[in-house]
This record gives sequence, C-alpha cells and structure tokens, in this order.
Amino acid sequence: MAVHVVLNQKGGVGKSTITVNLAAVTAAVLHQGDDRESSSPVAAISVDPQGSAIWWASRIDDLPFHIVQAHDDLAGLANLKNLPGIKHVYVDTPGWIDLNAGEDEADPLGRGPAADALRAVLDVADQVIVPIETEPLSFDPTARTINKVIKPRGIPYIVVINNWDPRDGVHDLEETKGFVKANDWHLASTVIRHYKLHSRASADGQVVTEYPANRVALQAREDFYKFALELNIAGGR
Ligand SMILES: Nc1ncnc2c1ncn2[C@@H]1O[C@H](COP(=O)(O)OP(=O)(O)OP(=O)(O)O)[C@@H](O)[C@H]1O
Ligand SMILES: [Mg+2]
Repeated sequence: MAVHVVLNQKGGVGKSTITVNLAAVTAAVLHQGDDRESSSPVAAISVDPQGSAIWWASRIDDLPFHIVQAHDDLAGLANLKNLPGIKHVYVDTPGWIDLNAGEDEADPLGRGPAADALRAVLDVADQVIVPIETEPLSFDPTARTINKVIKPRGIPYIVVINNWDPRDGVHDLEETKGFVKANDWHLASTVIRHYKLHSRASADGQVVTEYPANRVALQAREDFYKFALELNIAGGR
C-alpha cells in the first residue's frame, strides 16, 4: 500500500490534474472489468479546502476509484495507510501554501487547519510527486517546497515536468531540466505534455481513461500511463 502526495507551493502547476489522472490509470490497471467505485483499490484524496466544491464532483459516481474530500478529517488522514482494500492513495494538496507563515516556527508549514491536514498526509506519505512547469516563475516555489517541506522530512520525492507544449520548442524544457538537475533533484523522465484535452476534461470532470480513442487523446493519455509506470518501476527513488 502506497501513499503518493502531489505537492507544490505554487498554484496551478497541475497538482489536481496529476492526482486524479494517476488514480484513473492506476485503477484502470488494477481494477479492470469492474468499474464500481466501492470495490476499487485506488483512492484520490483532496486536502485542498478550496477544491472541495468542484473537485471532479460531477462525475464522482462513475469513476473507478474512490474520491474523497478530506481537508477537515485529521483522524482519517492519519489512518490513510490502513484503508481496507486500498493499494494506492493519491493525495491532492492546496493550491497555495504560505510557507512564510511558519518562518518563526520549527515547521515552515505554520499553523491552521490546512497546515494540519498537510502535516497529517506528509506523516504517512511514501512518496511526494512535485509537478513543475517550464516557466521560471515556478522555479522558486518548487525549490522552497522541496528544501523546506520535503527534504527535512526525508520523504522520497520526484519532480515531474507538466504542461510543456511541444509546439513551443525545447528551449524552456531544457532550461527547466537544467534547473532541476543543477539542484540535484530527482527528475522523472516522463514529461506530461500540454494538451487542450486535459484542461477541457478537468472542466468537465473527465479523467484520461475516459478520453475518446483518437490519436491525440491516446497521446495525452500515454503521458499518465508512462508516468505511473515510471513511479512503480523507479519507486520515486
Ligand atoms: N498537461 C496539461 N495540459 C493541459 N492543461 C493542463 C495540464 N495540466 C494542468 N492543466 C490545466 O491547468 C490548470 C491548472 O491545473 P490544476 O488545477 O491541475 O493545477 P493545481 O496545481 O491543482 O492548481 P491549484 O493550485 O489551483 O489547485 C487547469 O485548468 C488544468 O486543466
Ligand atoms: Mg488543485
């Protein structure tokens, strides 16, 4: 049983998209031929208080994995590793974490219910997945996330480049890879490319496994299957 926490202080880098789609492809493999949520060995959990109302809510009943809003359930979060029948838990975290709030304290996560929920999931995390975009604005928050929150806890982590559009050329991609390597962070070899389909799908509450069987949709979906495979082979290191 593994708890994967998707985390970056920076908002909008794809935390929710990655959480839900990793849960979807994992469930598609482990839970084949049975799309009832109730017997699924996969759960996607959100501790983002802001995400509660809209978080893939419209499709909850159709998904082959459990989907739970749990930002206010500390006891439940502490128990994440003991959920009966669950093999993989993917946790979506808040859009913006104010790491300065805890500057005076030993723990930069600071105080309050959102910080408590984050601490609770990090306490049981087997692995942290850190999405980064190919734009310099996401570099500093990523560094703070890794240096202040993840490394002090000693949790294995992997940085994954998300939302890179091949039509933009490789310059920004190479720059981002260079930044990650210069910091000696673990970088996923999978790059999750930008597809309009992903943004449209999240608005519709659709997950990658529900995309149509055309060429573009297959390519968009491939990135998540590939990343899930990489996580399970390399174990996030
Ligand atoms: N690979 C991608 N291709 C296209 N659009 C993407 C991709 N990844 C994320 N997006 C879009 O970017 C936006 C932000 O993504 P998402 O909501 O997953 O980020 P987040 O980190 O959870 O944001 P927040 O910090 O607000 O919680 C969404 O509109 C989403 O559909
Ligand atoms: Mg989100």
